[in-house]
Amino acid sequence: MPPKLLNKTAVVTGGSRGIGRAVVELLLQEGARVIAVSRSIDQPDGLEELASPRLITHLTDVTNPSDLARLVEFTQRRIRNVDILCPLAGRLFHADLLETSRELIEENIRINSISAWETFQKFRPILSKQAAVCFITFAPLFEQMAGLEQFAGSKALLRSYVRSLSDSGLPDQRVNAVACTPTQTTAWNAPDLLPLVKEKKWNWLTPEEVADTILFLVSEESRALRGTELVLSAPAKKSGNRVSR
Ligand SMILES: NC(=O)c1ccc[n+]([C@@H]2O[C@H](COP(=O)([O-])OP(=O)(O)OC[C@H]3O[C@@H](n4cnc5c(N)ncnc54)[C@H](OP(=O)(O)O)[C@@H]3O)[C@@H](O)[C@H]2O)c1
Repeated sequence: MPPKLLNKTAVVTGGSRGIGRAVVELLLQEGARVIAVSRSIDQPDGLEELASPRLITHLTDVTNPSDLARLVEFTQRRIRNVDILCPLAGRLFHADLLETSRELIEENIRINSISAWETFQKFRPILSKQAAVCFITFAPLFEQMAGLEQFAGSKALLRSYVRSLSDSGLPDQRVNAVACTPTQTTAWNAPDLLPLVKEKKWNWLTPEEVADTILFLVSEESRALRGTELVLSAPAKKSGNRVSR
């Protein structure tokens, strides 16, 4: 099969590991030129092993507006217009709903919703006419997990923004999202998430499964889809049970 994204340019934030890295790998395989963005690139499953002349890495903290502005300038210099934008940088955020401080609530929303939306806004002037944008949200299973309600809430903001663009003033550009149940990445190694992982009542999705769906959403195959959230859901082991506190 011929590559699906030949001559396309892409920017993937959160591209150094986990789901973002799987997306970077797939977009490269499909012929795109990719800028992979993260705050660091020295991960064990580092991008350098992909060793593609079409891969460019860039260090950016997407929660910092001046960093984002520099990223857009860099992108414009290196690849001019962006055909595919995947603002995937984010953090699984665990907190006791009744004990959370204002600072933690703000931090969660800053990393998981504001920065993704701001990435889209800052890139809009250099998105190509028929660009495809794909955000990442969560599947409803997250709302049933004690400690992850606020993470779910921050992604719900993004979901609402994406849906509102189904019928907006972006006639040719498409904005969609993929929502997933727990996906096996190092994000789940955080100490506060380990108790949830131990009593795990779900089956994992793989980063590659999520990346396949993102590829579909940014490729010509889905050219009629806009303002849509595709839900990817590995079957839960037990249904109807709230994961205990
Ligand atoms: N894993 C899941 O179960 C799951 C489920 C639903 C949604 N999601 C969402 O999917 C996305 C990827 O999750 P993941 O599990 O693949 O996470 P991950 O393995 O922890 O990877 C997170 C990526 O984001 C980057 N990143 C984090 N903060 C950043 C910042 N401020 N600026 C720039 N880059 C930043 C990280 O690199 P650096 O640390 O080097 O910056 C890394 O590349 C996130 O938005 C997450 O909320 C994940």
